[in-house]
Amino acid sequence: MAVIIITIFAFEAFLIIFVNSFYINNIKDILLKQAISAGNFYHDYISTQSTDINYQELAISLAQSSNAEVQITDKTGKLLADSLWNYESTKIDTPDIKVALTGQTEVWQGYTGMPPEAVFSLSYPLKTRAGITGAVRYITSLTDVKRVIGNITKILLAAGIAILFVIALIGLFLSRTIVNPVKKLIEQTEEIAAGDYTIRLTKKYDDEIGALSDTMNHMLEEINKNDRLKNEFISSISHELRTPLTAINGWSITLRRPEMEDKESIDHGLDIIEKESSRLSSLLEELLDFSKLSSGKITLHLEPLNINDTVTSIKDQMIPRAQRQNIEILMDLEQGIKNIKADPDRLKQVLINILDNSLKFTEKGGRIYIRTETTDRGIIVQIRDTGIGIDSSVLPVAKKKFCKGNQKGAGSGIGLAICEEIVLLHGGKLNIESELQKGTEVSVFLPFNDAVTNC
Ligand SMILES: Nc1ncnc2c1ncn2[C@@H]1O[C@H](COP(=O)(O)OP(=O)(O)OP(=O)(O)O)[C@@H](O)[C@H]1O
Ligand SMILES: [Mg+2]
Repeated sequence: MAVIIITIFAFEAFLIIFVNSFYINNIKDILLKQAISAGNFYHDYISTQSTDINYQELAISLAQSSNAEVQITDKTGKLLADSLWNYESTKIDTPDIKVALTGQTEVWQGYTGMPPEAVFSLSYPLKTRAGITGAVRYITSLTDVKRVIGNITKILLAAGIAILFVIALIGLFLSRTIVNPVKKLIEQTEEIAAGDYTIRLTKKYDDEIGALSDTMNHMLEEINKNDRLKNEFISSISHELRTPLTAINGWSITLRRPEMEDKESIDHGLDIIEKESSRLSSLLEELLDFSKLSSGKITLHLEPLNINDTVTSIKDQMIPRAQRQNIEILMDLEQGIKNIKADPDRLKQVLINILDNSLKFTEKGGRIYIRTETTDRGIIVQIRDTGIGIDSSVLPVAKKKFCKGNQKGAGSGIGLAICEEIVLLHGGKLNIESELQKGTEVSVFLPFNDAVTNC
């Protein structure tokens, strides 16, 4: 507002000064023309007359062709004639007359008379062939000009105040729509920064600040969701850890009992302890992997690799389990498939995870198909099962960490998240398609090129 006030009034002051000087210059031009013609007339005719000059008559006749009062002085500044018979002072000593008596034209602006009246005067030297003999002075009242300028000033002031009023209104409106919402946003974000994620930012208008509130609300929802997932994850991990530990603990106590002499029971107990501890260590392995992946600390050891060999060795590894579950694994491997550059251990981990899921979520008598194929840019491994499938509400997030279905057998929900991270590190893509009660198909695409982010 201060800047606007200063600008408006500076502009108005400039305008008033300009109008004032325009009027004064106009008057000066008119009077100058009249004074020049009076000076010429005096030089060419009057000063050549042999008889005494009647200055009073001359002043009156000059005043007839002008709106101004005309005075004539001698070369000392003494008043010889005044067209209005105004002989209050006999000697004129305003600066314009003094300059005119030295031979130059001069103007003066000031106050004369009682009551004082604003006047403008122009003095012009009167010359004969012998030199300067006096001066003619044209005087005009500035009362009318001052009145016009006064009126213009009033109009400009009124316009300035009106503009200020409009700007103040706009300012008020802007402060309501911008400044106030921003202040509110700052208050609320401070509360969020203090740890309250239940807050939702209020959206007042559908503008950029409104969009910012929406984005922040979305961010808060994501934070809450992640928080929930983390808590769920911790509780499910605690559960996963507790089950084998309970078995190990229980069997250690049982085995200590003196009545435990039967070799078969001891072997059974030790078997369980061994199985459960290896389950524990693989779970911890997974968690460690996951945390390394989350912090981007995994390094790939790339080497040329024939995917068919990898797939076959994993299938052999999984066959006993599949047989136990009465599930058939069928393979359709492309002959002479091209080598790719990949980390064999990590790739095995991916394929084992996917196959593990298929075995977990396929009922007895089901089938698992493994297929390899070459495309223009890389190879594809497809693992399809005839299992229970993934619900359409879970499918889009199945690859996310901690996401697990409600089915029996669901683990900690990080298997696919790890798989996807590893495939992405290879510059590839992992895709899942599934239909409930029909089956699931997981495709892993691995490129030939070296578009690997980390090796
Ligand atoms: N072949 C499949 N058939 C049916 N559901 C599947 C299949 N693969 C994955 N899912 C669903 O996706 C979820 C996420 O799979 P993911 O491998 O990430 O976790 P998990 O197998 O439950 O646990 P983890 O692999 O960590 O032991 C599973 O819980 C399951 O609901
Ligand atoms: Mg899994």
